[in-house]
Amino acid sequence: MKVTIKTILGIGILLFIFQAAVADDITIKITKKYLNLPVSQKQERGNMKFELGGKTERVFKIRLSGDEPEYWVFCDVTALKGKTIKISYDGKSSGLQKIYQHDEIEGQELIYKEKNRPQFHFTSRRGWINDPNGLIFYEGEYHLFYQHNPYEREWENMSWGHAVSKDMIHWQELPVALLPDELGTMFSGSAVIDYTNTAGFNKGSTPAMVAAYTANTADKQTQCIAYSLDKGRTWAKYSKNPVIDSKAKWNSVDTRDPRVFWYKPGNHWVMVLNERDGHSIYTSKNLLDWTYESHTTGFWECPDLFELPIDGDKTKTKWVMYGASNTYMLGSFDGKKFMPETGKYYYVTGTIYAAQTFSNIPESDGRRIQLGWGRISHEGMPFNGMMLLPTELKLKTTKDGVRLFSEPIKEAEQLFSTENKWENLTEAAANEKLKTYQGSDKLRIKTRIKLSHATSAGLSLNGQRILDYDMNFNLVNGVFYSPQDMASMEISADIYIDRTSVEVFIDGGAYSYSIQRKLDANNKEGLRFWGTNITVKDLEVFSVKSIW
Ligand code: FRU
Repeated sequence: MKVTIKTILGIGILLFIFQAAVADDITIKITKKYLNLPVSQKQERGNMKFELGGKTERVFKIRLSGDEPEYWVFCDVTALKGKTIKISYDGKSSGLQKIYQHDEIEGQELIYKEKNRPQFHFTSRRGWINDPNGLIFYEGEYHLFYQHNPYEREWENMSWGHAVSKDMIHWQELPVALLPDELGTMFSGSAVIDYTNTAGFNKGSTPAMVAAYTANTADKQTQCIAYSLDKGRTWAKYSKNPVIDSKAKWNSVDTRDPRVFWYKPGNHWVMVLNERDGHSIYTSKNLLDWTYESHTTGFWECPDLFELPIDGDKTKTKWVMYGASNTYMLGSFDGKKFMPETGKYYYVTGTIYAAQTFSNIPESDGRRIQLGWGRISHEGMPFNGMMLLPTELKLKTTKDGVRLFSEPIKEAEQLFSTENKWENLTEAAANEKLKTYQGSDKLRIKTRIKLSHATSAGLSLNGQRILDYDMNFNLVNGVFYSPQDMASMEISADIYIDRTSVEVFIDGGAYSYSIQRKLDANNKEGLRFWGTNITVKDLEVFSVKSIW
């Protein structure tokens, strides 16, 4: 046979196809903490399987890189120490040989030091995050579980990632808490502490932390229960899962994101579950057997429902129900049915999605603290998404009626120190003062501006309008906002600038928003007030400590 370039190419292509189609495998005896796996976004996803003594331990999708990896992901295999696992992959398998075990994550020394790592917002070391899940306070620790793909910076392989904190500001990432199983991938949900052992999972005096989550498959979503007896570190799934399978009732695959809490007056558990076109209420005595009670249409995904005092008066309360977009209704709740009494409002917009409030906050504290997913990406980083600042929610009486307010929790204050403070500056003078802070990668700015000769004004950061108040159309960064005193011509903003995001709280949290920070290396303009003849009534600049 005459060997031509064409034949060589042909054989090459055949070899490539053969390699791509057949699952290859390697065998490793686990002696270290982590398996490090090379990834490239340019590779197609393939299925990777870990087998232990012939039994599947886990299956996930990964873009295994056979060439120069774009980044590395890891898998904590501490629990498999001493065991021999077979790893097979049905994608391009040349990357299998690159997988190695080590007591450190590949690139460990750079973690939290990366150029575009947010400095005061939680991000995972590697991979994708979305919704916060199972937010709960227990024995001095706040738990943040979250929708997580440990194996890629895009959405896939939904698992519950896990981090703990003593103050909701500094987080320590722990091993993944819930992995996909034969019922599906681990979609969003919540957690409670079963102090009186209603479900029967408690051990001696140790109450179970119980998680309610959605198991997701392509054709249905069911609600499941898992419990932990070691403060959320390891979990057992309830043997009779799922506890709710309501696909047929709703003729819909969209039944998900159980939000569970204890309803004291009724002595029962409540689950708020998004089903097709709204939030349903289920009740239970034991977290395992659930009874359908009612349904409020007009909500989508990630429900929350809680009672809040109005203007701090505990004798006057309303219940707040919201969905994934954070738009909410106020109403009453009798343990079985939510009765809306208002329209649907917003208090926060922008990158926030799927926020949830913490369970089990001690009564002596009494705050309702919310954490939301910030749909923020971090250019060139091996991780994606972040958690916004935790905020305290309050109901306050406004000129429009009772409304929800949200402001960063007091624990956040430890990160900020006043650098400078001024009053009654002209725009030009304020801009002169701000020159010092040009090029800061993180900053907090509190300001109040007064308009006089033009209908709009605000503050820009390297050309990006991070505050844009249009008094004529009553818009703040494009969203309708009407200040309490509409004749004041003033607006105040508490602005949190991180490396990849900006969060802004208007007029004491009456409205807030978060945006992706535009990284334009060529624009060195820094911070600049704009408008015509505005007065900068207050300006306070804070330095910011990193949480890492
Ligand atoms: C909201 C959501 C949830 C679902 C999860 C899956 O962002 O779609 O409804 O449980 O994400 O990751």
